[in-house]
Amino acid sequence: MSSILAVFGATGKQGSSVVNYVLNDPELSRKYKIRAITRDVNSEKAKKLEEKVEVVRGDVLDRSSLGTALAGVHTVFAVTTPFATNVPLFGPKGLESEYNQAKNIADAAVEQGAQYIIFSTLPSPTKISGGKWTSVTPFDAKEKAEQYIRGLPIKSAFVSPGGFMENYVDLGFWSPKRTPDGGWILVGSASPKAEYPLVDAVGNTGNFVGAILAEPDKYEGKIFHAATALYSWEEIAAIISKATGKNVVYKQTPVEELEKMIPFGAEVFIDGFQFMEEFGYYGPDSRKLIAWAVDNARGKLTTFEEYLSTHPVQME
Ligand SMILES: NC(=O)c1ccc[n+]([C@@H]2O[C@H](COP(=O)([O-])OP(=O)(O)OC[C@H]3O[C@@H](n4cnc5c(N)ncnc54)[C@H](OP(=O)(O)O)[C@@H]3O)[C@@H](O)[C@H]2O)c1
Repeated sequence: MSSILAVFGATGKQGSSVVNYVLNDPELSRKYKIRAITRDVNSEKAKKLEEKVEVVRGDVLDRSSLGTALAGVHTVFAVTTPFATNVPLFGPKGLESEYNQAKNIADAAVEQGAQYIIFSTLPSPTKISGGKWTSVTPFDAKEKAEQYIRGLPIKSAFVSPGGFMENYVDLGFWSPKRTPDGGWILVGSASPKAEYPLVDAVGNTGNFVGAILAEPDKYEGKIFHAATALYSWEEIAAIISKATGKNVVYKQTPVEELEKMIPFGAEVFIDGFQFMEEFGYYGPDSRKLIAWAVDNARGKLTTFEEYLSTHPVQME
């Protein structure tokens, strides 16, 4: 008999990737029966999901809604977000909110007798930098939640996504900008040679999570540092240039200028990139950690070049 796999964020990028990966994998689709959890079972996305999987209401901010949502579940894929309240929450309030979202899911999973939780975590810049970079709260919150989950009487494993390739398609402020002389620049606070891990979140989260679902005991306690590779900012600009046919150049930009361009959470992004340049997105072993995840992922991962060949970059 198949086990129920509850997927949070199934209408979003990471969760939808897990749903699609499991449905398309002959072994995993036999092993697991998906239950997608959403706040609104009547949304357009939820209705579409209902054509292929069970869809159940659950709100990670409301612990009491999660008992029914997780009844009879064997494995949980959990995602938290600074946007769960629909107003982006950063700083101490954001940290508390995301930590509590994860705690609500994990506590309900344990209470309902679930066997395994796979949590989408991130590294803690505060810990890795020894307290130097403390404002990257969406990262710190997830690492704090990871530690909480590790202490619970339930098996667990983790996926720690790199920067989403989707940001170059979805987020206006992330995209190349026109310069007065007709050129294009990609802006950021880090130096051109600083490196950033990229992942196709919609296309590949399932490849990492799928490996855990296929061999849960092998990967218990492990973190998949989920990225295809590290890319320097100047490489990212060069790949965008090739994909768009426009000459895009990376421009290291003063923090005061960047602050005016980022519509929300500027400090999180800017400090985050400063932290990554100094310590590495996943700390000093980033390259090694990503290589392990690539080797252990199920199937082939999408390179940034391949991603842009099917997803046009938003040019501002
Ligand atoms: N962008 C990046 O480069 C990047 C990199 C690493 C990590 N991340 C992290 O990725 C996370 C977001 O994940 P994503 O991009 O996969 O999601 P997403 O596409 O932004 O979608 C958000 C998902 O969360 C669900 N959700 C929101 N509030 C909820 C609530 N109160 N209760 C239950 N479900 C709720 C939504 O479901 P419904 O609307 O159906 O309820 C939706 O499926 C963030 O925490 C971010 O920090 C992002």
